[in-house]
Amino acid sequence: MSTVAMPGTAEHSWSADPYADALRAGRGPLFLRRSDGWLLPLEVERWCARADAVDREVLDRCEGAVLDVGCGPGRLVVELAARGRTALGIDVSSAAVAHTVGLGGPALLRSVFEPLPGEGRWGSALLVDGNLGIGGDPGALLERLTRLLAPGGLLIAETDPLDIDERASVRLVGVTGGTGGTGGTGGTGGAGSTGATGGTDGTGRPGDQGTCGTPFPWARLGTPALIRYARPLGWHTVAQWSAGGRCFLALRNRRTSSSAEPPKSTAVINSQRARKPSADRPVAAG
Ligand SMILES: C[S@@+](CC[C@H](N)C(=O)[O-])C[C@H]1O[C@@H](n2cnc3c(N)ncnc32)[C@H](O)[C@@H]1O
Repeated sequence: MSTVAMPGTAEHSWSADPYADALRAGRGPLFLRRSDGWLLPLEVERWCARADAVDREVLDRCEGAVLDVGCGPGRLVVELAARGRTALGIDVSSAAVAHTVGLGGPALLRSVFEPLPGEGRWGSALLVDGNLGIGGDPGALLERLTRLLAPGGLLIAETDPLDIDERASVRLVGVTGGTGGTGGTGGTGGAGSTGATGGTDGTGRPGDQGTCGTPFPWARLGTPALIRYARPLGWHTVAQWSAGGRCFLALRNRRTSSSAEPPKSTAVINSQRARKPSADRPVAAG
């Protein structure tokens, strides 16, 4: 698998206006829309809030230096930094990185598939709020995580409450003038939620004033599917739990050979703060 982000994939589409607008506003409505019109509501309000009890339990389980893959507006790395933990959020959305850095969380504007600091040395990695979907190829993402984590490192992933294994082309859809409401069954896990079938105009389409990004590949996995993808790559389950309607799996990789030191707290954090954020690229990739 290439480690270089390709144009037209998720990293470009999450940089689109509907997501940036929602993060700046701190609220939705915002959806992932499949080509058949099915809408998955995204929990922007929760992502923009402080880490809640469910998040804090996830963070309690982290070991060593923590890489939050697809950190969004940064509530998890902000909480980790407040705990004095070494942590780094990475995201392809400049609005997300700006939000995180603005709250004092260390973050880099970078795709998980691009070269990253501390490769092979992270103690834990997080893929929450539906982020198993990143890139639309769970096997490739898990394979990338084996190379980012230290031998025996911990991956904590949030899975969909449904027993699904879905790969689809989606678009980000925001609604600027809708009447609100998702019209569906209600989500519980962000982009990994059970989803919705209706739009804000009740037709399965966003309202007339909706803004729409370009299509990109995305995936949704329930716990059984994650285990199926992970096992051949050397991952084994060390914990499985549900809280607040959200489902999680902690996996450890069997890979054992490395003498690398963990990423240094000062190195990670200074690399963020030394560069002055700009509106376009809040923390430059270097
Ligand atoms: C479903 S949202 C989750 C948001 C986030 N976990 C939070 O707390 O707000 C997916 C996030 O992953 C980011 N993302 C998408 N593709 C990515 C990639 N290749 N590398 C890193 N982040 C990515 C998006 O920009 C977005 O912020």
